[in-house]
Amino acid sequence: MKGRVLIVAGSDSGGGAGIQADIKTVTALNGYAATAITALTAQDTQGIHGVSEVAASFVVQQIDAVLDDIGADCLKTGMLHNAEIVDAVADVYEAKGGGMPLVLDPVMAAKSGDPLLDAEARQALRRRLLVHATVLTPNVPEAELLTGMTIATRDDMTDAAAMLLTLGPKNVLLKGGHMPGDTVVDVFAHTHGVKEFESPRIQTRHTHGTGCTLASAIATGIAQDMELEAAIMRARAYVFEAIKSAPGFGAGHGPLNHAHTIGDS
Ligand SMILES: Nc1ncnc2c1ncn2[C@@H]1O[C@H](COP(=O)(O)OP(=O)(O)OP(=O)(O)O)[C@@H](O)[C@H]1O
Ligand SMILES: [Mg+2]
Repeated sequence: MKGRVLIVAGSDSGGGAGIQADIKTVTALNGYAATAITALTAQDTQGIHGVSEVAASFVVQQIDAVLDDIGADCLKTGMLHNAEIVDAVADVYEAKGGGMPLVLDPVMAAKSGDPLLDAEARQALRRRLLVHATVLTPNVPEAELLTGMTIATRDDMTDAAAMLLTLGPKNVLLKGGHMPGDTVVDVFAHTHGVKEFESPRIQTRHTHGTGCTLASAIATGIAQDMELEAAIMRARAYVFEAIKSAPGFGAGHGPLNHAHTIGDS
């Protein structure tokens, strides 16, 4: 085992996204996962049926407990639920993070379309956390909300990724899962230029938690001292195989097979 990842995100009772997907991913890639839970969702493959809040002070208490004892090599944030939690996470990162790499997945909606972050929290995220991100991993709707741009083409994705870079993150990986077409293109923008990562689109409804999984896989690679591009390539390959071998559970957007690195039975 190598690489400690502290995940700050929400719980998905269905086990396909959120904290559950994060822990499975980090573990499957031979890292160590610790967590600070921001909210509990009663969720399945079809949607979110309820949310139970966690106090911002308790989110901080969880982060403090992990950092003070176990430590972390990379921080990964997912659903931060409300502005108070965004501010609290930014405060504790500034006080204790000490430049620790941060994979910021700006989760704003579930795959079902259910909203996960209100406008005030979105603003707080933009203002407080983007500047600290080693890599920001929005999907297309999130990039539209953060930039105010409409993204309809690959060129639009490149423009939006470049625009997001001006908001402070060191790197941006704009994910193309929501775009149409037989090829899925993720646009990677960094200070030296832009690069595209492509893969064939798997025709399936089993894509619940692809974003959480990708971000946690990238965070694991960073925690294991991989170069960022290598971490992204391994993460994309891990997600691809996890979609391809999805177990087929649930009537909606089904979960992935996070365990494909472990066995084939
Ligand atoms: N059908 C698919 N076939 C192959 N790769 C896919 C497919 N859908 C998504 N991906 C890949 O999965 C990763 C996550 O992208 P996506 O745009 O789905 O994120 P997301 O919308 O944040 O996911 P989530 O809804 O789980 O938060 C990207 O690397 C993307 O290229
Ligand atoms: Mg997502």
